[in-house]
Amino acid sequence: DESALLEPRPPVVCILGHVDHGKTTLLDTIRKAKVVDDEFGGITQHIGAYQVEASGEPLSFLDTPGHAAFSRMRERGASTTDIAVLVVAADDGFKPQTDEALKFAKKAGVSLIVAINKIDAKGANIDRVKTQMQERGIAPEDWGGEVITVPVSALKGEGIDQLLEMIRLQSEIMELKAVPKGKSSGVIIESQIEQGRGPTATILVKKGKLKVGDALVCGTASCKVKAMHDDLGKAVKEAGPSTPVKVIGWSDAPESGSTYETVKNEREAKRVAEETLESRKKKEEEDRLAAKSAGSNLDDLFSAIESTRKTNFNVILKADVHGSLEALTGMLQELPSDQVELKVVGKGVGMITKKDVELAGASDATIVGFNVRMENGVQGHAKHLDVRILQDNIIYQLIDIIRESMAELLE
Ligand code: GTP
Ligand code: MG
Ligand code: NA
Repeated sequence: DESALLEPRPPVVCILGHVDHGKTTLLDTIRKAKVVDDEFGGITQHIGAYQVEASGEPLSFLDTPGHAAFSRMRERGASTTDIAVLVVAADDGFKPQTDEALKFAKKAGVSLIVAINKIDAKGANIDRVKTQMQERGIAPEDWGGEVITVPVSALKGEGIDQLLEMIRLQSEIMELKAVPKGKSSGVIIESQIEQGRGPTATILVKKGKLKVGDALVCGTASCKVKAMHDDLGKAVKEAGPSTPVKVIGWSDAPESGSTYETVKNEREAKRVAEETLESRKKKEEEDRLAAKSAGSNLDDLFSAIESTRKTNFNVILKADVHGSLEALTGMLQELPSDQVELKVVGKGVGMITKKDVELAGASDATIVGFNVRMENGVQGHAKHLDVRILQDNIIYQLIDIIRESMAELLE
């Protein structure tokens, strides 16, 4: 009986809200860190996972980006947590991504706390935010509603203790529990390929105890845990429920948002991952055949005519982490396609390699790199094969560069 083994676990708290409303600054103040100073373009472009102690008790936090491009990250963040802290800037009020974040939090059924931030700023209007909450059916507690609302200034450190206290009280009410030992399972927060380390993943343990030496499987990726690091980069030997850790030793970067579990040994992990890969391939092939037989010849003919009318723009996408690759792909799909047909002929996580250049050369594609470096010799090779490489480390600037290149094609 598992319920007899349950023990209290720390809450997982996700910080959500519109771009620049102060989420990362709030976490920096709580953690006495300075993450914000190192961000490109002043925006968060990844999920961050941290554990802090407040009044002697651990709390786990997820920081999410507020920029429109990263809605999948916000949704994933909201769905892997117990409590969502919706940050609303007092001088700006509810904005599109505030509403989107609220929708994700509701959908995930997590409990909600609203932090009205920037109360020190010129034009701050706490009552206006509370009115907006009321209009959205989430009236604040002190206005007769149910939502705990804390005015804060992340920049000046005001109201932070009250916010942490509210989080603690809320998690107490929720009586969060998990089995703290034995077989572990949990969720992939983010994954990437790191130089010298290979594929790594930041994971959040949901149950059991994850240990160095464990064998894991996650979709088509397997892992023999070589090392684990906490959010400060310190090596740890084990991690229990609600703890975020970076895990090194993967065969492949596992998909963000997917679930890992421990299996009895490395051989078993490889076997299960291989099986998943085979069945995925089979499913893809079946889908492809089904789509082919469903489409009439006439439809095929029309789409063939349609696409010859358009100019093709083939791209190979490379991004620093799995989540940003997904965000980039999403943004490209939204670019206007009436004249230029953008086609993704390859994509992956990690630096731009000579192999990417080869593929680009063979498929007449442009390489698009988001926040990645180039392998030695890539530039020369690209020049030789006449392959273009477009790069930036701020997502909306990269999209602008791509849009310009698409426009150039029509000139
Ligand atoms: P994204 O992750 O890109 O969505 O932004 P964010 O919500 O993490 O906001 P961030 O922490 O990057 O802060 C955005 C700007 O607001 C920065 O210039 C901060 O210094 C400023 N800021 C954050 N909190 C406060 C606050 O309490 N008061 C004032 N006046 N400015 C703040
Ligand atoms: Mg941020
Ligand atoms: Na920002």
